[in-house]
Amino acid sequence: MVEFTLPKNSVVQKGKNFPAEKGATRLKQVEVYRWNPDSGENPRIDTYQIDLDQCGPMVLDLIVKIKDEIDSSLTFRRSCREGVCGSCAMNVNGKNTLACINAIDEYKGAIKIFPLPHMDVIKDLVADMTHFYAQYASIQPWIETQSPAPSDTERLQSPEERKQLDGLYECVLCACCSTSCPSYWWNSERYLGPAVLLQAYRWLNDSRDEHTGERLDELEDPFKLFRCHTIMNCTDTCPKGLNPAKAIGEIKKMLLVREEG
Ligand code: SF4
Ligand code: SF4
Ligand code: FES
Repeated sequence: MVEFTLPKNSVVQKGKNFPAEKGATRLKQVEVYRWNPDSGENPRIDTYQIDLDQCGPMVLDLIVKIKDEIDSSLTFRRSCREGVCGSCAMNVNGKNTLACINAIDEYKGAIKIFPLPHMDVIKDLVADMTHFYAQYASIQPWIETQSPAPSDTERLQSPEERKQLDGLYECVLCACCSTSCPSYWWNSERYLGPAVLLQAYRWLNDSRDEHTGERLDELEDPFKLFRCHTIMNCTDTCPKGLNPAKAIGEIKKMLLVREEG
Protein backbone atom coordinates (compact mmCIF):
# COMPACT_ATOMS: atom_id res chain seq x y z
CA MET A 1 0.00 0.00 0.00
CA VAL A 2 1.25 3.51 -0.77
CA GLU A 3 2.33 5.38 2.35
CA PHE A 4 1.52 9.09 2.38
CA THR A 5 3.01 9.99 5.76
CA LEU A 6 6.65 10.92 6.32
CA PRO A 7 8.90 8.33 7.94
CA LYS A 8 9.24 9.13 11.67
CA ASN A 9 12.84 10.27 11.37
CA SER A 10 12.03 12.93 8.77
CA VAL A 11 9.20 14.66 10.60
CA VAL A 12 10.35 18.23 11.20
CA GLN A 13 10.30 19.14 14.90
CA LYS A 14 10.24 22.37 16.87
CA GLY A 15 13.84 23.38 17.55
CA LYS A 16 15.71 25.84 19.73
CA ASN A 17 14.66 29.40 20.45
CA PHE A 18 17.24 32.16 20.37
CA PRO A 19 15.83 35.31 22.03
CA ALA A 20 16.70 38.88 21.02
CA GLU A 21 19.77 40.66 22.33
CA LYS A 22 19.12 43.03 25.25
CA GLY A 23 17.95 46.46 24.12
CA ALA A 24 17.02 45.37 20.58
CA THR A 25 13.94 47.16 19.29
CA ARG A 26 13.56 46.43 15.56
CA LEU A 27 13.13 42.67 15.64
CA LYS A 28 12.61 40.10 12.91
CA GLN A 29 11.69 36.50 13.65
CA VAL A 30 13.71 34.13 11.47
CA GLU A 31 12.88 30.42 11.33
CA VAL A 32 15.53 28.17 9.83
CA TYR A 33 15.47 24.50 8.86
CA ARG A 34 18.25 22.62 10.65
CA TRP A 35 19.40 19.05 10.09
CA ASN A 36 22.67 17.41 10.93
CA PRO A 37 23.04 13.88 9.51
CA ASP A 38 25.66 13.04 12.15
CA SER A 39 23.38 13.78 15.10
CA GLY A 40 20.84 11.02 14.40
CA GLU A 41 18.12 13.52 15.30
CA ASN A 42 15.12 14.61 13.25
CA PRO A 43 15.23 17.87 11.33
CA ARG A 44 14.05 20.86 13.36
CA ILE A 45 13.13 24.49 12.91
CA ASP A 46 15.22 26.87 15.03
CA THR A 47 13.82 30.33 15.74
CA TYR A 48 15.99 33.43 16.01
CA GLN A 49 14.97 36.97 16.99
CA ILE A 50 17.27 39.23 14.98
CA ASP A 51 17.88 42.92 15.66
CA LEU A 52 17.54 44.52 12.21
CA ASP A 53 19.45 47.59 13.38
CA GLN A 54 22.49 45.34 13.75
CA CYS A 55 22.11 43.41 10.52
CA GLY A 56 22.65 44.00 6.79
CA PRO A 57 19.59 44.50 4.56
CA MET A 58 19.37 41.18 2.70
CA VAL A 59 18.07 37.74 3.68
CA LEU A 60 21.61 36.37 3.29
CA ASP A 61 22.75 38.93 5.89
CA LEU A 62 20.36 37.36 8.41
CA ILE A 63 21.89 33.94 7.89
CA VAL A 64 25.44 35.28 7.99
CA LYS A 65 24.63 37.10 11.25
CA ILE A 66 23.17 33.95 12.79
CA LYS A 67 26.28 31.97 11.86
CA ASP A 68 28.74 34.67 12.96
CA GLU A 69 27.12 35.71 16.20
CA ILE A 70 24.59 33.12 17.39
CA ASP A 71 25.17 29.60 16.11
CA SER A 72 28.32 28.86 14.13
CA SER A 73 27.08 25.37 13.26
CA LEU A 74 24.50 26.75 10.79
CA THR A 75 25.55 25.50 7.35
CA PHE A 76 24.75 27.13 4.00
CA ARG A 77 26.39 28.01 0.69
CA ARG A 78 27.19 31.51 -0.50
CA SER A 79 29.98 33.25 -2.33
CA CYS A 80 29.43 36.42 -4.36
CA ARG A 81 26.57 38.01 -2.36
CA GLU A 82 25.38 39.78 -5.50
CA GLY A 83 23.37 37.23 -7.44
CA VAL A 84 26.05 35.99 -9.81
CA CYS A 85 27.39 32.74 -8.32
CA GLY A 86 24.03 31.06 -7.75
CA SER A 87 25.19 29.31 -4.60
CA CYS A 88 22.86 30.87 -2.01
CA ALA A 89 19.71 29.36 -3.57
CA MET A 90 17.19 28.39 -0.90
CA ASN A 91 13.47 28.49 -0.20
CA VAL A 92 12.36 31.68 1.54
CA ASN A 93 8.74 31.91 2.66
CA GLY A 94 7.73 29.24 0.17
CA LYS A 95 9.58 30.55 -2.88
CA ASN A 96 12.93 29.42 -4.24
CA THR A 97 15.28 32.35 -4.57
CA LEU A 98 18.79 33.70 -4.08
CA ALA A 99 19.04 34.89 -0.47
CA CYS A 100 21.58 37.57 -1.34
CA ILE A 101 19.36 39.54 -3.71
CA ASN A 102 16.20 39.58 -1.61
CA ALA A 103 15.77 42.40 0.89
CA ILE A 104 14.50 41.52 4.36
CA ASP A 105 12.02 44.40 4.05
CA GLU A 106 10.23 42.58 1.23
CA TYR A 107 8.93 40.03 3.74
CA LYS A 108 6.14 40.87 6.17
CA GLY A 109 6.21 38.93 9.43
CA ALA A 110 8.50 35.99 10.11
CA ILE A 111 11.00 34.81 7.51
CA LYS A 112 11.05 31.03 7.05
CA ILE A 113 14.13 29.60 5.39
CA PHE A 114 14.39 26.05 4.03
CA PRO A 115 16.76 24.26 1.65
CA LEU A 116 15.71 23.92 -2.01
CA PRO A 117 12.74 21.52 -2.09
CA HIS A 118 12.78 17.93 -3.32
CA MET A 119 16.54 17.62 -3.11
CA ASP A 120 18.52 15.46 -0.71
CA VAL A 121 19.86 17.61 2.10
CA ILE A 122 23.52 17.35 3.02
CA LYS A 123 23.21 19.58 6.09
CA ASP A 124 20.91 22.45 7.12
CA LEU A 125 20.40 24.62 4.01
CA VAL A 126 22.82 22.74 1.76
CA ALA A 127 21.10 20.65 -0.92
CA ASP A 128 22.94 17.89 -2.77
CA MET A 129 23.51 19.24 -6.31
CA THR A 130 25.46 16.22 -7.62
CA HIS A 131 22.71 14.92 -9.90
CA PHE A 132 21.82 18.43 -11.11
CA TYR A 133 25.43 19.09 -12.13
CA ALA A 134 25.71 15.67 -13.82
CA GLN A 135 22.62 16.53 -15.87
CA TYR A 136 24.20 19.87 -16.76
CA ALA A 137 27.40 18.12 -17.91
CA SER A 138 25.28 15.72 -20.01
CA ILE A 139 24.19 18.50 -22.39
CA GLN A 140 27.84 19.31 -23.21
CA PRO A 141 27.78 22.97 -22.15
CA TRP A 142 30.55 24.10 -24.43
CA ILE A 143 30.97 24.93 -28.14
CA GLU A 144 31.27 21.83 -30.35
CA THR A 145 32.72 22.41 -33.81
CA GLN A 146 33.61 20.44 -36.92
CA SER A 147 35.17 23.16 -39.08
CA PRO A 148 38.82 24.06 -38.46
CA ALA A 149 39.39 27.05 -36.19
CA PRO A 150 40.34 30.30 -38.01
CA SER A 151 44.11 30.69 -37.88
CA ASP A 152 44.24 34.42 -37.14
CA THR A 153 41.24 35.10 -34.92
CA GLU A 154 38.72 33.57 -32.55
CA ARG A 155 35.40 32.19 -33.78
CA LEU A 156 33.50 35.46 -34.02
CA GLN A 157 29.81 36.38 -33.75
CA SER A 158 27.97 39.36 -35.20
CA PRO A 159 26.22 41.61 -32.65
CA GLU A 160 22.89 40.08 -33.84
CA GLU A 161 24.16 36.54 -33.28
CA ARG A 162 25.44 37.49 -29.85
CA LYS A 163 22.04 38.99 -29.02
CA GLN A 164 20.48 35.55 -29.49
CA LEU A 165 22.12 34.54 -26.21
CA ASP A 166 20.46 37.29 -24.18
CA GLY A 167 18.07 35.84 -21.62
CA LEU A 168 20.11 32.62 -21.61
CA TYR A 169 23.71 33.44 -20.74
CA GLU A 170 22.61 35.17 -17.53
CA CYS A 171 21.55 31.86 -15.94
CA VAL A 172 23.62 31.26 -12.80
CA LEU A 173 22.62 27.57 -12.46
CA CYS A 174 21.11 28.13 -9.05
CA ALA A 175 18.49 25.36 -9.63
CA CYS A 176 15.67 27.51 -8.19
CA CYS A 177 13.60 26.75 -11.31
CA SER A 178 14.24 23.01 -11.51
CA THR A 179 13.48 22.49 -7.84
CA SER A 180 10.17 24.35 -8.19
CA CYS A 181 9.05 22.25 -11.16
CA PRO A 182 6.56 19.48 -10.30
CA SER A 183 7.64 17.47 -13.34
CA TYR A 184 11.22 17.60 -12.09
CA TRP A 185 10.17 16.60 -8.56
CA TRP A 186 8.63 13.38 -9.82
CA ASN A 187 10.97 12.55 -12.70
CA SER A 188 14.32 14.13 -11.92
CA GLU A 189 16.13 10.89 -12.70
CA ARG A 190 15.18 11.20 -16.36
CA TYR A 191 13.71 14.68 -16.98
CA LEU A 192 16.47 17.27 -17.39
CA GLY A 193 14.44 20.07 -15.79
CA PRO A 194 14.14 23.75 -16.75
CA ALA A 195 17.61 24.95 -15.75
CA VAL A 196 19.48 22.34 -17.76
CA LEU A 197 17.08 22.70 -20.70
CA LEU A 198 17.56 26.48 -20.72
CA GLN A 199 21.29 25.80 -20.86
CA ALA A 200 20.77 23.26 -23.65
CA TYR A 201 18.95 25.94 -25.63
CA ARG A 202 21.76 28.42 -24.92
CA TRP A 203 24.18 26.12 -26.83
CA LEU A 204 21.66 25.24 -29.55
CA ASN A 205 21.25 28.96 -30.11
CA ASP A 206 24.95 29.80 -30.28
CA SER A 207 25.93 30.66 -33.86
CA ARG A 208 29.43 29.25 -33.31
CA ASP A 209 28.23 25.77 -32.34
CA GLU A 210 28.14 23.17 -35.12
CA HIS A 211 26.46 20.27 -33.30
CA THR A 212 22.83 21.37 -33.49
CA GLY A 213 21.72 18.05 -34.99
CA GLU A 214 23.52 15.94 -32.38
CA ARG A 215 22.20 18.14 -29.56
CA LEU A 216 18.62 17.80 -30.81
CA ASP A 217 19.06 14.02 -31.20
CA GLU A 218 20.06 13.83 -27.54
CA LEU A 219 17.02 15.84 -26.40
CA GLU A 220 14.44 14.04 -28.56
CA ASP A 221 13.33 11.76 -25.76
CA PRO A 222 9.99 11.34 -23.99
CA PHE A 223 11.59 12.07 -20.63
CA LYS A 224 14.59 14.40 -21.06
CA LEU A 225 12.54 17.18 -22.69
CA PHE A 226 8.92 16.21 -23.07
CA ARG A 227 8.17 15.90 -19.37
CA CYS A 228 7.68 19.68 -19.37
CA HIS A 229 3.96 20.33 -19.19
CA THR A 230 4.22 24.13 -19.29
CA ILE A 231 3.22 24.58 -15.65
CA MET A 232 5.41 27.76 -15.59
CA ASN A 233 6.61 27.51 -11.96
CA CYS A 234 10.14 27.72 -13.33
CA THR A 235 9.66 31.11 -14.97
CA ASP A 236 7.69 32.45 -11.99
CA THR A 237 10.48 31.60 -9.59
CA CYS A 238 13.68 32.45 -11.51
CA PRO A 239 15.44 35.08 -9.36
CA LYS A 240 17.29 36.34 -12.45
CA GLY A 241 14.05 37.05 -14.31
CA LEU A 242 14.74 34.45 -17.02
CA ASN A 243 12.16 32.37 -18.85
CA PRO A 244 13.15 28.68 -18.90
CA ALA A 245 9.65 27.63 -20.00
CA LYS A 246 10.06 29.71 -23.17
CA ALA A 247 13.49 28.17 -23.84
CA ILE A 248 11.95 24.69 -23.53
CA GLY A 249 9.22 25.73 -25.96
CA GLU A 250 11.90 26.90 -28.41
CA ILE A 251 13.65 23.53 -28.28
CA LYS A 252 10.34 21.78 -28.97
CA LYS A 253 9.84 24.14 -31.92
CA MET A 254 13.32 23.31 -33.29
CA LEU A 255 12.48 19.61 -33.15
CA LEU A 256 9.20 20.20 -34.93
CA VAL A 257 10.81 22.29 -37.67
CA ARG A 258 13.44 19.58 -38.15
CA GLU A 259 10.76 16.90 -38.41
CA GLU A 260 8.78 18.89 -40.96
CA GLY A 261 11.89 19.90 -42.91
S1 SF4 B 1 17.03 29.75 -15.19
FE1 SF4 B 1 16.96 31.12 -13.42
S2 SF4 B 1 16.25 29.84 -11.72
FE2 SF4 B 1 16.89 28.48 -13.35
S3 SF4 B 1 19.00 27.96 -12.82
FE3 SF4 B 1 19.06 29.70 -14.25
S4 SF4 B 1 19.13 31.51 -12.96
FE4 SF4 B 1 18.48 29.82 -11.67
S1 SF4 C 1 7.08 24.99 -17.59
FE1 SF4 C 1 7.98 22.95 -17.74
S2 SF4 C 1 9.94 23.15 -16.75
FE2 SF4 C 1 8.73 24.94 -16.14
S3 SF4 C 1 7.80 24.35 -14.18
FE3 SF4 C 1 6.44 23.82 -15.81
S4 SF4 C 1 6.83 21.67 -16.29
FE4 SF4 C 1 8.55 22.48 -15.16
S1 FES D 1 25.89 34.49 -2.84
FE1 FES D 1 26.18 34.33 -5.01
S2 FES D 1 24.19 34.35 -5.78
FE2 FES D 1 23.90 34.68 -3.68
